[in-house]
Amino acid sequence: MPSVYIKTYGCQMNERDSEAVAAQLVAKGYTLAASEFEADVVLLNTCSVRDHAEQKAIHKMENLTASIRKHRPEVVFGFMGCMAQSRGQALIDRLPDVDLVVGTQKFHHTADYLDELLQGRRKKIVDTGTEPGSEATVKEHLLNGTAKHKSVTAFVSIMQGCNQYCTYCIVPYTRGEERSRSIPDLVAECRQLVMQGVREITLLGQIVTSYGKRFKAQSAPAMGQVVAPGFDPHSDKSAFVQLIEAVHAIEGLERIRFTSPHPKGYGDDLVAAYGRLPKLVESAHLPVQSGSDRVLKLMHRGYTRERFLEIVRKLRAVRPGMGLTTDIIVGFPGETEEDFAATVSLCREVEFDNAFLFKYSPRQDTPAATMPDSLPQEVIEERHGRLLEVVNQIGKRKYEALIGSEMQILVEGPSRRNAARMMGRTPCNKLVLFDGSPRHRGQLLPVRIVRTGNFTLYGDPAIVGL
Ligand code: SAH
Ligand code: SF4
Ligand code: F3S
Repeated sequence: MPSVYIKTYGCQMNERDSEAVAAQLVAKGYTLAASEFEADVVLLNTCSVRDHAEQKAIHKMENLTASIRKHRPEVVFGFMGCMAQSRGQALIDRLPDVDLVVGTQKFHHTADYLDELLQGRRKKIVDTGTEPGSEATVKEHLLNGTAKHKSVTAFVSIMQGCNQYCTYCIVPYTRGEERSRSIPDLVAECRQLVMQGVREITLLGQIVTSYGKRFKAQSAPAMGQVVAPGFDPHSDKSAFVQLIEAVHAIEGLERIRFTSPHPKGYGDDLVAAYGRLPKLVESAHLPVQSGSDRVLKLMHRGYTRERFLEIVRKLRAVRPGMGLTTDIIVGFPGETEEDFAATVSLCREVEFDNAFLFKYSPRQDTPAATMPDSLPQEVIEERHGRLLEVVNQIGKRKYEALIGSEMQILVEGPSRRNAARMMGRTPCNKLVLFDGSPRHRGQLLPVRIVRTGNFTLYGDPAIVGL
């Protein structure tokens, strides 16, 4: 059977989609190649969120086809994911060595398309159509192969798409309309994962707090079946909170996380869920984007600075140790020095544990791309540098404040950088390295934090009784 290599760009949704495609191919008998240079099939799962992400994948494909095709003309090259969706056939027009372009609603057809290409039945395949029911097709997992090295954590894709249409964002166009899976379908997948040894599940979607909102319109007759949503749309709890409750009831599961929520989705029901449901761990990635009400409005974010701060206060009132991270865009069109100062002051006020800063990148066909007063690149760079310093300083302080405390970590396995060390995560989603042994994998352990590194904590092995 052929071997495949998948390289992934972009967000965790893409990581998850790549895993599901790899699992589908493995189930068909494919092997996973150790590198792109040994594979019979090379797939790049792409991201369009910023121009830089697109350019990286295009250059990679140019380099790969140039170096591999010469010696091995039979190798199949493909693009999947968001850039495949947004550019379609244009990718093959630009890079004629590419054989396959698979859009974001078509991942589950990848194996069939590869069969056709490998057997020479078709020369090129581009499929970027919409497909009802496709949100429920990303469900296979790889779980790192061998019984000895089972995955402790897993991602479960609960919905696809986004209807928020933030003015800068390409995701609603690449991922399509919001489409949610049913609770019974999701619980079955989570239960299966737990049976295979998974102890922490992250519920994934571009806007998970909108889970279930458009269920009826989108998913009812999926693939000829009538799918019952499994939640009560008239309850005072949102469909998302009902889903968390259903997953929470799975015996053997220790921790639940989710990403990405939208701040406007933090109703009191979700805040209260953090107090009621002990498996829902105390961390949230709350993308704020800007601290200026004027910019938030231009971005079409749907909340104000004050509303955002209120959510943070409420979350911390319920769970004081709440780990909070965020995304911020620097240099949105028309961002004044005053707007930027509001973002800096918001960061100081909230004291995020970490913040991911992005330089604004105009995306084709988005409303912001044609807004007036785009900023010179030097201004964006300079503000980015200034904010990074603030964010890093606060992060460092927050991490150092944990020295001496005892925290419970879920041990995921050896550290990626240094296999002699084990790594785990705190409930507030901070990485902890400690001198443990492989037998700790999958365990919940209390460790004493002794020092910090760059957004990393080091735990004391004495406490774990080695
Ligand atoms: N759905 C998620 C995130 C999607 S993209 C959410 O709403 O939070 C991840 C991050 O990329 C966004 O939070 C935003 O900060 C950034 N981003 C999106 N579009 C961008 C653009 N055009 N330029 C720069 N950064 C962008
Ligand atoms: Fe993009 Fe906004 Fe949707 Fe997030 S909520 S995916 S930023 S449109
Ligand atoms: Fe990128 Fe698509 Fe994710 S555009 S951020 S890979 S949803």
